[in-house]
Amino acid sequence: MEKKGGAGASDELIKAMEKAQLEDGAQLTESQLLVQQQDPIVAVEKALGVRLDADTKDLLRQEAATEPTYQGKVKKMLDHLKKTKYSENRKVLRNIDNVEPLYDIHEFWDSQPVPKAYEKIDESMYDQQIDVPKTVADVRPEPYTLPPGYTWANIDIGNRTEAQEVYDLLTQNYVEDDDNMFRFDYSIEFLQWALTPPGFHKEWLFGVRGGKKNKLFGFISGIPVDTKIRGKQVTMAEINFLCVHKSLRTKRLATVLIKEVTRRVNLHDIWQAIYTAGVLIPLPISKTTYWHRSLNPKKLVEVGFSSLPANTPMARYVKLLKLPGETSVKGLREMQKSDVKVVHDLLNAYLSKFEVHLHFTEAEVAHFLLPRAGVVDTYVVENPQTKEIKDFLSFYHLPSSILKHEVHKTLRVAYCYYNVANTVPMEELIRNALIIAKQKDFDVFNALDIMENETLLKELKFGIGDGNLHYYFYNWRVPEFKPNQIGIVLV
Ligand SMILES: CC(C)(COP(=O)(O)OP(=O)(O)OC[C@H]1O[C@@H](n2cnc3c(N)ncnc32)[C@H](O)[C@@H]1OP(=O)(O)O)[C@@H](O)C(=O)NCCC(=O)NCCS
Repeated sequence: MEKKGGAGASDELIKAMEKAQLEDGAQLTESQLLVQQQDPIVAVEKALGVRLDADTKDLLRQEAATEPTYQGKVKKMLDHLKKTKYSENRKVLRNIDNVEPLYDIHEFWDSQPVPKAYEKIDESMYDQQIDVPKTVADVRPEPYTLPPGYTWANIDIGNRTEAQEVYDLLTQNYVEDDDNMFRFDYSIEFLQWALTPPGFHKEWLFGVRGGKKNKLFGFISGIPVDTKIRGKQVTMAEINFLCVHKSLRTKRLATVLIKEVTRRVNLHDIWQAIYTAGVLIPLPISKTTYWHRSLNPKKLVEVGFSSLPANTPMARYVKLLKLPGETSVKGLREMQKSDVKVVHDLLNAYLSKFEVHLHFTEAEVAHFLLPRAGVVDTYVVENPQTKEIKDFLSFYHLPSSILKHEVHKTLRVAYCYYNVANTVPMEELIRNALIIAKQKDFDVFNALDIMENETLLKELKFGIGDGNLHYYFYNWRVPEFKPNQIGIVLV
């Protein structure tokens, strides 16, 4: 099938994708999108994290004068500075490398209601949508066109056979690290959990099928979430699991999947979305960083996940990272159904401290936090005397396939989820999460530097990873947030 769908079919596919991009009557027009552009010099100073003197500014303006586009001007200026004034300044060079992709031409994202790096923003533009207001009547009723031989297909993720198809697509084609050593291996049970919360819409879980065997070549998902952003309630779609089969990459299929999910979400009168990605596209609301706590240092070194610190023999490294065999918090036990109400109250009260957070219903807390084997673990702290519950910890299970090792095939990874600490220090609570994860034979415990995590990570012997996770909003403008202002975990 992949061979047959080779060059000829690819051209056809690209053409059809381009058509799908144009056939959107409800698409933004240039004028709707055009927010006043800021001076390219301001963009350059922001990128560098440095103020420029008047002579340098003049020189840069001359350098970039012949560039026709705004993005081109900024790139030319950055390029000039990289080769001259800052050629030896590693910090500035790193800053430039970090933002340069935002000044690439983004054929798709530049046409979407997302913030752009070149916009001149004032405070009055925050906390509102970017697009002109629309109603469901403005949304095209029919799906975007796919090339001949490809069709849209809703996925019934509760059905084992269809869930298996999504599983197969993702385990073979979903996110890998930069060196292609590991690939996420979301289990079927995990996908069913993540994609069927109370009130989920079955048509927001869909993909593209094609070929003789009607195989799944792409997938995207959305679930409805109730968010609070800088005090304002916004109902959003949480978009996740965007994946295109390796054989159909760079043919704009991803953009059609994104447009189609947007259409399906809009039909529910929902106009905003939240999503995360490792890649930098226009324009993150926050840039967060993964940290890793080794639980099985020997295996992590063997598979190339971590490296031994200089002059440290393995035995010393293992000893350094050894955790107590037993948890220390009195009254720690698995969450049960009867705890849902109190956990719901604790979670929402805690999350309200953050500028961006979810607001959970009781049914959602039951769905997302009640323990599920191989998917999510939640432990509450029940006071042995009063039986009151004021704290809980949770983590989810997301292994990765190890792609290039003879012996080890799976990396067992726990991810920090939601934790609330009122009667015990947060550090002790998370240390207990590490101990439980170790008891359950996980190799590593991952956490983002969001919520309060950053303050504890070093103390708990997490090491900073090289991966960033960018948080994005679709059609909602906010100032940039620090990771510790984010109270949402996307699985
Ligand atoms: C991400 C993925 C679906 C993109 O597909 P692709 O075939 O490489 O890209 P396409 O040609 O279809 O589309 C390119 C457009 O998608 C955008 N894009 C790429 N990855 C994206 C992402 N993760 N989220 C949103 N947009 C993305 C690109 O920026 C580009 O738009 P632009 O021209 O405006 O910059 C594909 O690479 C994939 O399945 N990767 C592995 C899984 C993965 O990383 N999923 C995303 C998890 S966040």
